[in-house]
Amino acid sequence: MRAVVTRPGEGRAWLEQMQEPNSMHADDVLVQMLRVGVCGTDRHVMERVFDRRRQLPEGADFLVLGHEAVGRILEVGPDVKTLKPGDTVVPTVRRGCGECDACAAAQVDLCFTGRYRERGIVGLHGFLSERIVDREEHLIHVSEDLADVAPLVESLCTPEKALRRIGNARAHLPTGGTMNGVHRALVTGSGPIALLAVMALRLRDVPTWCLARQPVDGVAAQLIGRTGATYVPLQEVDLHQPQDRLQGGFDAIIEATGAAEIGVAMLGALASNGVLDLAGGGGGDPVTIPERLLGSMLGRNLTMLGSVNANPDDWRNAVHDLGAMRQRFPGVVEALITHRFEMEQVDVSFDRVPGQIKAIIDISSA
Ligand code: BGC
Repeated sequence: MRAVVTRPGEGRAWLEQMQEPNSMHADDVLVQMLRVGVCGTDRHVMERVFDRRRQLPEGADFLVLGHEAVGRILEVGPDVKTLKPGDTVVPTVRRGCGECDACAAAQVDLCFTGRYRERGIVGLHGFLSERIVDREEHLIHVSEDLADVAPLVESLCTPEKALRRIGNARAHLPTGGTMNGVHRALVTGSGPIALLAVMALRLRDVPTWCLARQPVDGVAAQLIGRTGATYVPLQEVDLHQPQDRLQGGFDAIIEATGAAEIGVAMLGALASNGVLDLAGGGGGDPVTIPERLLGSMLGRNLTMLGSVNANPDDWRNAVHDLGAMRQRFPGVVEALITHRFEMEQVDVSFDRVPGQIKAIIDISSA
C-alpha cells in the first residue's frame, strides 16, 4: 500500500510503498483511511531532529506522517465489542508510556515521564497510509455525516482541553457559570486551533474576541465574524497596553499563535483572576517578561498554563461540538478546509500557503 512518509531533519515528505499493516491483538481493527489533515506539527516532524531513535518507529528508517484522520472500518478482531465494519472512526494520537500513573489512568495527555509515543509524530507510524491497524480503545466512532470534516476532531481536542483546563483553573472562584465565570474571552491566532477555539467559546455563548495578523476582509476574519465573535487585527493593538484597543480585560485567553512575544503580552490583557492558556506550539522571538507583568500576575491572581494533547473527555466533547458547530454556524466548519490534495501531490501538500486554514489529503472516498 502507499504511504506519505518523512525522515526527521530531511524537511520533506514523499510517497513510499509499504507492507499492509499487521494485526497483532484480538482487539485490533483494520481501517481504510479516508482523509488526513495537514498540521504545523507535521512540518516540525519533517524539520526537527531531537532523537532520531526515539522519533522513528522501532526498526524503521522513515515515519509515516499524519495524525488528524478519519477512516472506515474494514475488519474487526474477535474481541472488538463496540465497533463493526463500515463504522466511521477517528483515531486518537498519543499512546501512553506504560510506566506512569497518568498513562495507567488513560490520561496519556498528562504523561509524567515524557516517554509516550504519538502516531505520526514520535515513535509510531501515523495515519497517512491507505490502511492502518489500531486497537479498539484508540478509535472513536463518529457519525457518517461528520466524515468529510472529521480530521478536525483532532484539532478541536486542543481547544476542548484548553477550555476544560481554564474552567478547572477558575474552580476556586465564587462565580459559577460557564467555565466558572468566563464572561469575556479572547483567542489569539487565525489557524484551525484558534478558529475552533473561537467556535467552541461561541457555542457556549461566551462573548469572544479574536486577535490575529490577518486582514479584516480575509477569510479567517470573515469566518470569525460569522460565529458572532469580534475580530481585531493585531496591528491595531499596542502589545504593551492590549486592554486599550480590546476594551478591557478577559477572564480567559487561549493563545494559539505560538509566538512567545504574544503569549507574554497577553498577560496584560487578562482581567483580575483571569487565565491564559498557551495552546500553540512554541515559536517567535525570545522575550523578556517585564516586571510589571509578573507583578500583575501576583497582584491580580492571574494564571498562565500550558495544555497539550487531550484526554478521553476532550475527544468526546470534540466529536459532539464539531457536530453542534455545524448546526449553529452553517458552512463555517466546512470553510475551514481551504485546500484539498491527493496523496500523489505530496511535494506541495505540506507547503505553507497564504490564506490556507486547513489542508486535507484525500486517501479514499470508499
Ligand atoms: C497534536 C497533539 C500532539 C502535539 C504534540 C499536536 O499537533 O495535535 O495531539 O500531542 O502535537 O506532539
